[in-house]
Amino acid sequence: MADKAKIAILISGRGSNMAAILYASKLPKCPYEIILVASNNPDAQGLKLANAEGIATFAHAHKGMSREDHDVIMHDAIITSGADYIVLAGYMRILSADFVQKWTDKILNIHPSLLPKYKGLNTHQRAIDAGDNYAGCSVHLVTSALDDGTVLGQIKVKILADDDTDSLADRIIFAEHQLYPAAITAYVTREKNPEWILDQVRARALALDETLERPSFGTPAWRVGNEKSGKYFAYFSHRHFGENSISLFVKTSGSDEQEALLDADPMLYFLPKFYGKSGWIAVRLDRGNTDWDHVEAMLSKSWRIVAPKRLTKLIDIAHEF
Ligand code: GAR
Repeated sequence: MADKAKIAILISGRGSNMAAILYASKLPKCPYEIILVASNNPDAQGLKLANAEGIATFAHAHKGMSREDHDVIMHDAIITSGADYIVLAGYMRILSADFVQKWTDKILNIHPSLLPKYKGLNTHQRAIDAGDNYAGCSVHLVTSALDDGTVLGQIKVKILADDDTDSLADRIIFAEHQLYPAAITAYVTREKNPEWILDQVRARALALDETLERPSFGTPAWRVGNEKSGKYFAYFSHRHFGENSISLFVKTSGSDEQEALLDADPMLYFLPKFYGKSGWIAVRLDRGNTDWDHVEAMLSKSWRIVAPKRLTKLIDIAHEF
């Protein structure tokens, strides 16, 4: 498979999650590859395995260094490797705000609890002490607040009456090994996932004034204006309307604009079969490199074309000055 996402894994110890992620990457259709395993602990057991499997490794002890200085060294090694994403797998260091900011939305972590419960340490014992029925694990995006970013996936693990920390941790680790490769796979392919794409369009369409979603011919579509006299300004097409792609139909000012767009980027735009004649243009959303600011601008322009005067009047006045 071409264009696999390149992943650097950071570990501090055993590295069993690293092994699970690494072996999952050997499956023929896996959309990611491991290009570096790095550690703050030169003796981390997981480094030996990565080495033996022919993966580049890097280690730099953090002792005697400021957090920021150590993070710069890790960052440089990761940049040199060419990684697109960083996966923390038992990396027992809090990352500096600077490091996290450089990799916004590109760092994933696994945590042995059902977040938002039990951030931090001793998660298994805290779940047992609280009398919970279930513990589990979560994969989440990393932000500068501890164990706090968007949760990408979770697996629940039943707590047994005679569980102690070790017996519970021994079962949760099985769940971790299933969850992590699956969550990474879903995350690195999200830009081609129709549901994710639809969510992106929906959020932007509904952010415009007086809009509502009303399906049209069985596909999500958005209108502006009131319930009765409102008009459609956007249609989502997932192989719909006789088309073979995932795309968004928006209104243009007419055939001149349609032609200009088709000329400017024939890979991005096409004339939709049934709607082209009435001034609509289709924007491809399934190429994996969608510029969402541009989609937002197209939606807003389309909204302006069909919105009732009372809504566009203020905008028009503002434009005169
Ligand atoms: C895993 O259980 C992971 O969830 C946990 O460390 C263990 C690492 O095991 N991570 C955290 O507690 C992070 N806050 P591994 O080295 O065998 O993958």
